[in-house]
Amino acid sequence: MSAGPAPIYPPDPWAIRETSFDPAQLRRNETIFSLGNGHLGMRGNFEEGFPGGVVGTYINGFYEETPITYGEIAYGYAKNRQVMLNVADGKAITLSVGGERFDLSSGTILSSERTLDLARGVLHRRVAWRSPAGREVEIRVRRLVSLSRRHAAVIDWSVSLLRGSCPIEVESAIDGSVGNQSAADDPRIGTRFAERPLRTMQREAEGARGILVQKTRMTGFVLACAMDHVVESGALEQGPAVACSTSPDRASVTVQAQAREGSILRLVKYLAYCTSREFPGESCARRAREEVTRTLKAGIETLLEEQAQTLSQFWHGADVQIEGDHSLQQGVRFNLFSLFQSAGRDGCTSIAAKGLTGEGYEGHYFWDTEIYVLPFFIYSNPQIARALVAYRLGILGKARARAAEMSQRGALFPWRTIGGEETSPYYPAGTAQYHINADIVHAFRTYILATGDRTLLSEGGAEMLFETARLWADLGTRIPRRNGAFCINEVTGPDEYSALVNNNAYTNLMARENLEYAAATAEEMRRDNPAELERISAAIGLSGAEIEEWRRAAETMYLPFDRELGIWLQDDGFLDRAPWDFAGTPPESYPLLLHYHPLVIYRHQVLKQPDVVLAQVLLGHRFSMAEKKRNYDFYNPLTTGDSSLSPCIQCVAAAELGYIDAAYEYFSRTARMDLDDVNGNAGDGIHTAAMAGTWVSLVQGFAGMRDIGGRLSFKPRLPGSWICLRFRLRFRDRLLQVTIRRQAVTCDLLEGDPLDISIRGKELRPAPGRPITESLLPTLECVIFDLDGVITDTAEMHFQAWSRLA
Ligand code: BGC
Repeated sequence: MSAGPAPIYPPDPWAIRETSFDPAQLRRNETIFSLGNGHLGMRGNFEEGFPGGVVGTYINGFYEETPITYGEIAYGYAKNRQVMLNVADGKAITLSVGGERFDLSSGTILSSERTLDLARGVLHRRVAWRSPAGREVEIRVRRLVSLSRRHAAVIDWSVSLLRGSCPIEVESAIDGSVGNQSAADDPRIGTRFAERPLRTMQREAEGARGILVQKTRMTGFVLACAMDHVVESGALEQGPAVACSTSPDRASVTVQAQAREGSILRLVKYLAYCTSREFPGESCARRAREEVTRTLKAGIETLLEEQAQTLSQFWHGADVQIEGDHSLQQGVRFNLFSLFQSAGRDGCTSIAAKGLTGEGYEGHYFWDTEIYVLPFFIYSNPQIARALVAYRLGILGKARARAAEMSQRGALFPWRTIGGEETSPYYPAGTAQYHINADIVHAFRTYILATGDRTLLSEGGAEMLFETARLWADLGTRIPRRNGAFCINEVTGPDEYSALVNNNAYTNLMARENLEYAAATAEEMRRDNPAELERISAAIGLSGAEIEEWRRAAETMYLPFDRELGIWLQDDGFLDRAPWDFAGTPPESYPLLLHYHPLVIYRHQVLKQPDVVLAQVLLGHRFSMAEKKRNYDFYNPLTTGDSSLSPCIQCVAAAELGYIDAAYEYFSRTARMDLDDVNGNAGDGIHTAAMAGTWVSLVQGFAGMRDIGGRLSFKPRLPGSWICLRFRLRFRDRLLQVTIRRQAVTCDLLEGDPLDISIRGKELRPAPGRPITESLLPTLECVIFDLDGVITDTAEMHFQAWSRLA
């Protein structure tokens, strides 16, 4: 059973397959067949191109700046946009057969198939085509972006002539004339640059090699793309003859041959992208040449082997298996694979909202990384998690400068950014989301507790805790009308359909955690490492009195609660807003943000995404079960799900409350968000937060895993159609495998020392070679009869009650 329409791609647990070519789905498929390695990303464009496609190649952290133009500017507005650039296209390979250009928009497609292999990290393509004049060819391609060599990609391209005899010509190029997209009617896509952001500094070609060097105008970043080829052939009548040339913004290598039926011409194209984000600008060209030489020497078979090995290691820790639902299994694997392809690993980059697959949200990093994506990496691949956390530590200086600009002490992290500066042009749903500070600290703390790796504390981590706490202490105010409680006013919480509110419950709760954790860390350091605390205190002018202030702010934090409804208030004014007319809103008016002015939305009780419900998912131990239920029952019907970040959180919250059918429904949306193009915008890039939300839904939702204070507990509940859910967790140098079936859950410690966990409240200790199985059958702990009221036939009622229980 799978909710929604039939899957677009045939369900296959380890592959995504397109079995025919549909030009209407071009952009979506370009996104789905993207390849990447956290540094370099390539959309799944056809090598020969196709009208209407978005030819895309992206380097994580490689961006251009352009001033934001405001109709009316005010002090402190973000100054510049930062845009992840669509860089030189190295995928370009065109073919001409007897003078006719191979192009799927002309002639006849005899067959067309693409397969993304999730186990080996390779994209396969096979297409047979008849030209308008009747010549027939078959093209086969294998493409990979190396997961073990961050600068490298390879395209193994070959053509065979199926009938007749004719000259063929193949041109393989680096095309530097590509540029970014823009869409005037959708705030989520694109930017127009006044001038092309990349200028070509150098273009060279020699033999089968070529190089193009470009430089950005404003940021001054340099990018070198180098290519080299191995040309092979079989049964040609003449050739192959290799030539090369350059033209403005282009370097190309051409291969000519006289072919006959059965002739094969194969080009293995090796590519390397190096930028001045890593190397001195003047050495990028040399680095790219060296890299491409190294990869060519290693050869494609080695690259394929390395790729399979890297992925086998990845899946060893990260795979999640669902028995009983092929299409969800496929969705889960595709999502985890895409996250692995998108996450920066160098400590200087993070994970963009759309990964390295498209230009939606301009390649920006949001809180998506910390709240949605990091849990997956923390528990499956702590090295990548560490690098993502380190990225934030690297921009702490800029966060300090931003706090000062915003008239605040401490550090304020940007709502959206690449380089570290605030770049959100719309401050009510941007800078006002101060909760980003606490989100970063929440992820930092989870990382430390789950890995036991405290080294980041002395690499800027402690400073980050102190500076963020300092910001909260300075931002909030004790308000006499609220009995002197600590209030945080004029902020926007996670739900972007309410903006600039007072006392957003999520923000206040998360800020309180931030303040408490900073104070506790200072205390710990005073005890265990006083010299280090002194060093940091001297560097940032921190006093003991200030730490006391953090504690007081946390203790007196105002938390809005409505006694009558028994719910936590999203913010002080939430109940004063008008109800939204859901019944009168047709499906085509969603997402609301594209059909209503923000002010119209803001004055109504309508949510884009969970807010209080997100707080209860992240900080479950701060809410009673009854509160959780009342909050969910109240807010969920008001939640449009217009943000792709919604369904996974709704899934976890619903699962905890035992609303399993609802949880399953939300899970299906998040698990196949991009494969089924649930939001209709997969063409602009994947939704990384929703993808990671898939993992969160499974592990924290259906398996009910919680990690409170560094202790794992589980409360599994499987949807009716699943036979088994199995996943692994890395936790404090252990690898724990959890297998949940309808009747029982088994915890198997595959690596590391025995571990204390709890399952449905029972304390257990799996050890290596000694898996623990715990029954999931309902247990009867007590029976309470309410014998009040008018009972005419008590014996009959007792009998029925006992029968039902039995
Ligand atoms: C959501 C934000 C999110 C952003 C990027 C917006 O639609 O409301 O919470 O950070 O998308 O994914």
